[in-house]
Amino acid sequence: MIDWRTAWDQALYGDAGFYRTESPAAHFRTSVHASTAFAAAVLAYARRHDLHAVVDLGAGRGELLTALDAAAPGELALLGVDLRPRPAELPEPIGWSAEMPAHVDGLLFANELLDNVPCEVVERDQDGALRTVLVDPASGAEELGAPVRDPEVLEWLAAWWPLDEPGERAEVGLSRDAVWREAVSRLEHGAALAVDYGHLRQDRPPYGSLRAYRGGTEVEVRLDGTCDVTAHVAVDAVAAAVGGTLARQGGVLRDLGVDGSRPPLSLASTDPQGYLRALAAASEAAELTASGGLGDFWWIETRVG
Ligand SMILES: C[S@@+](CC[C@H](N)C(=O)[O-])C[C@H]1O[C@@H](n2cnc3c(N)ncnc32)[C@H](O)[C@@H]1O
Repeated sequence: MIDWRTAWDQALYGDAGFYRTESPAAHFRTSVHASTAFAAAVLAYARRHDLHAVVDLGAGRGELLTALDAAAPGELALLGVDLRPRPAELPEPIGWSAEMPAHVDGLLFANELLDNVPCEVVERDQDGALRTVLVDPASGAEELGAPVRDPEVLEWLAAWWPLDEPGERAEVGLSRDAVWREAVSRLEHGAALAVDYGHLRQDRPPYGSLRAYRGGTEVEVRLDGTCDVTAHVAVDAVAAAVGGTLARQGGVLRDLGVDGSRPPLSLASTDPQGYLRALAAASEAAELTASGGLGDFWWIETRVG
């Protein structure tokens, strides 16, 4: 039995881990895959704030950067940072690195990175003690380990995810806070945006939100590298760690010009092809902004300088 954070880390990033062996885009669909309107909104954000470079942390296969390059060739210096090697199909002007640059002047962006940062899992036991949850990566069986003594973990739980009742459990977000704090610390001037699904202190899921996906569908959580293991992000804790503000994706994207409203029906008779194109674009925009779907994602924004 090992702690959840170690098991989860191995399952995603170990030698036989999901992100080493699988192509993530084959297993899930993020806003980046849903529509190039997402990249258009990121471009609009960069232009609005006069930013000339984009660093995409956890860039996956570089889809966002590729769309930015296509939308505005040569306008932005583009760099993907990911644990995965440079994708073969990435356009030549886009840089790629396994490490964050020492300094960023521009837009630091991360879409669905933090939900894939493994966390420790803690449960309140029947006697009221907070205990680390251990898991057998081969079988998925769990047991409660030692009482939590790390003051940092105890403080984080008290501040962000209090466990009131026996059996309640939390994914401790300290590792996510640390990843994003470290990335934002590289920002000398510009803005940082972390976009992800998450929850706030007042609506934490009482038993956590560990989930696994494979081939686009939710599957039983397995720690053998065959599926993507994820948990919603305590976004208010991350925002506090980086001095950021929170907003829902639907509102942010609408403000950046993503419009899911139906084109006027009169266009169908005057310009049938144009009408169909506008209808398809509106469908994509509606998916990106929909309540109950991608529109509920959180944008954590930090401005520097
Ligand atoms: C869910 S995918 C998201 C990919 C892309 N941003 C998108 O929206 O489609 C998460 C990506 O983050 C990468 N990743 C996870 N932890 C990382 C870290 N500490 N540094 C760099 N990349 C990381 C993974 O390799 C994976 O490609």
